Amino acid sequence: MSAQNNDMKREKFSSGIAVFFATLGSAVGLGNIWKFPYLTGQNGGGAFLFVYLLCILLVGIPVMVSEFYIGRKTRKNAVGAFEALKPGTPWKGIGLMGVAAAYLIMFFYSCVAGWVYSYVFKAIKGDFAGITADTAKAQFGSTVVGPLPPLLWQIIVMAVVSLILISGVKKGIERVTKTLMPVLFILVIICGIRAITLPGAFAGLEFLFRVDFAKITPPVILTALGLAFFKLSLGMGTMMTYASYFTDDNHMMATSAKVALSDTAVSILAGIAIFPAVFSFGMEPGAGPGLLFMTIPLVFSKMMFGNILLIAFFVLTSIAATTAMLSLVEVPVAYMTEEKGISRRNSVLINSFIILLFGTLATFSADKSSLLGGIQFWGRGFFDWFDFISSNILLPVGGLLIVLFVGYFIKKEDIFGELSNRGRLNNGWLVQSFLFLVRFISPLLLLLVFLNSLGILKF
Ligand code: PHE
Repeated sequence: MSAQNNDMKREKFSSGIAVFFATLGSAVGLGNIWKFPYLTGQNGGGAFLFVYLLCILLVGIPVMVSEFYIGRKTRKNAVGAFEALKPGTPWKGIGLMGVAAAYLIMFFYSCVAGWVYSYVFKAIKGDFAGITADTAKAQFGSTVVGPLPPLLWQIIVMAVVSLILISGVKKGIERVTKTLMPVLFILVIICGIRAITLPGAFAGLEFLFRVDFAKITPPVILTALGLAFFKLSLGMGTMMTYASYFTDDNHMMATSAKVALSDTAVSILAGIAIFPAVFSFGMEPGAGPGLLFMTIPLVFSKMMFGNILLIAFFVLTSIAATTAMLSLVEVPVAYMTEEKGISRRNSVLINSFIILLFGTLATFSADKSSLLGGIQFWGRGFFDWFDFISSNILLPVGGLLIVLFVGYFIKKEDIFGELSNRGRLNNGWLVQSFLFLVRFISPLLLLLVFLNSLGILKF
């Protein structure tokens, strides 16, 4: 039997729309609303955005299509997929590395998702009434330091994620993402419109869109590359795992372009919602991970229905965080159920337990004054290390290996066959351009960035 239809029991998304929203649900998350704005703020605004867009185009999309190829072709989890394509070789190490990266990300992601959930609750209670730049900072500080409340919120996040995942691919992931992603989009647009009508908003837009080439330094490039991977959920088997549930007739190259474009639109809209407020209220764009939490309550303050919109905004950010977490936890869940024969329910529970166990380290080290905030290794605490090792090392290395694998170790005919849906799509030139990028451009760029960040090559 061919690898394509080896398991009749395996679930699939039910339509092209479902594929799109589930994949977008994985891509859109805290990365857009929390990470993108604060990294842009710390790394030079427009210059960072410019490099980021290049990374999405020249590296992100080719890696995504490569992952789609591997996932749908084999219809297996991230480890099993490599084993199916190259049995008995070390290639499956890429899948294992992906599982490791998924854990590291989840340790801190579940913590930040907890802060977002807690902001919904605070907004409902009316804690942000009469807020000023100073009280906004104090609110965020107390949310993060805890120690108990952030941990409880993290447990609530994991409980929600586990319940949805236990319901399965179609009834859980597909249903939730298809309903909620469109609402999220509309809400970010409303926030953006509100923000650009603030007094002094222009300075924020200028910061976000004016490219100052002098600010493009090697660390900025590495950060932008890491963000591109994190944003599009690449380099760690998430997109492979989701593609293993794609429909047979999905035009995967079109899906990757649509997902990358919509995801980038959400990030830019989040930037438009946040930076005008930063400048209008005299805050610091380089404020770091608290940027979102300190500015958004201010954006909506003193506005008609402001508190309702604030609640809605954080509800939707919680949704974005939750749907992205579904795809993160799905990586080890699919691996455990398919490779280790553990039931779906039990693998969800085991994984949630592991995430909470180590996630506590992130939660208690998120701020200098947190319980474990004083513990630093080479200048970073647990929270920052989990983030740095996954985004800036494991995902780009995973991405490099994936493009090399697809570009040089898979037969050209197989790639043409799968990406054209067995010849049903007339997209030969697209596949040809994809192959060119995946063989030459993406690996070269990734190598240059690595050699440079290791200090081997200077530019
Ligand atoms: N893309 C998600 C976000 O931006 C995070 C994520 C990373 C999800 C890696 C899955 C895998 O929030």
